[in-house]
Amino acid sequence: MFLKKISLLTDKVPNLSKYPFSIPAIKGLEELEIRQNITFFVGENGSGKSTLLEGIASQIGFNKAGGSQNNRFEITDTVSSLGVYLRLSWLPKMSNGFFLRAETFYDFASHLEQLQKENPNIDVFKSYGGKSLHEQSHGESFLALFKNRFGQKGIYLLDEPEAALSPARQLALLKIIHDLEKEESSQFIIATHSPILLGYPNSTIFHFDNETGITEVKYEETEHFQLTKYFLNNRERMLHHLFLEPDECE
Ligand SMILES: Nc1ncnc2c1ncn2[C@@H]1O[C@H](COP(=O)(O)OP(=O)(O)O)[C@@H](O)[C@H]1O
Ligand SMILES: [Mg+2]
Repeated sequence: MFLKKISLLTDKVPNLSKYPFSIPAIKGLEELEIRQNITFFVGENGSGKSTLLEGIASQIGFNKAGGSQNNRFEITDTVSSLGVYLRLSWLPKMSNGFFLRAETFYDFASHLEQLQKENPNIDVFKSYGGKSLHEQSHGESFLALFKNRFGQKGIYLLDEPEAALSPARQLALLKIIHDLEKEESSQFIIATHSPILLGYPNSTIFHFDNETGITEVKYEETEHFQLTKYFLNNRERMLHHLFLEPDECE
């Protein structure tokens, strides 16, 4: 494990009521202690998971659009200025790794194609399963990237990686994460809605909430676990209630 603590330099923030500090989870951040190799961010859409992940990525020096220190490409700038107000405490410092956002994966794939065009003598796709990521299905190319690129000791920041992956491939991702944790002591911080990924053993789950800020929760306490389990066990009853018209409510 490399990254031990994330602190918000509150004194330096010019305006706590402006984005990204207007997000309750960010405003109340103070210090987030990382105690395990695998850390998850969960919470409703808009609760600030991506904002914090991007801030961490930019402070490490990873391309905020997704990529490593070597992959510099620009996308439309939606990037927050949070990074400069974060202090990352390391032991030891690690700059190898990768930041992957499901949303910008397409741009990353295009960036690699461009690189290949400009450098015909280098096999750019070598670490990505041998062919352009655009020629592989989304799930395939995701796993190609995970398998080939995530082969080293490093810190990996993933934003909703499940978006492209079938349940079977989410399990495959769990195995890749497990191997990298055990063999290389790699560290992962993953924003996710997936009850499968969240099931990773010996991990920390931070729940982002507009009322309570960031709190640590157990797997079984997450809505992802509870709702999914209830749905799978009581699908008909749940759908019946869900589809009731207001005047039919019991
Ligand atoms: N560039 C921006 N300017 C202003 N508000 C933004 C910007 N980007 C995101 N937001 C807002 O910040 C909040 C947190 O967004 P985000 O970190 O993407 O949430 P999550 O990843 O948890 O779904 C949302 O309410 C979103 O609308
Ligand atoms: Mg997000």
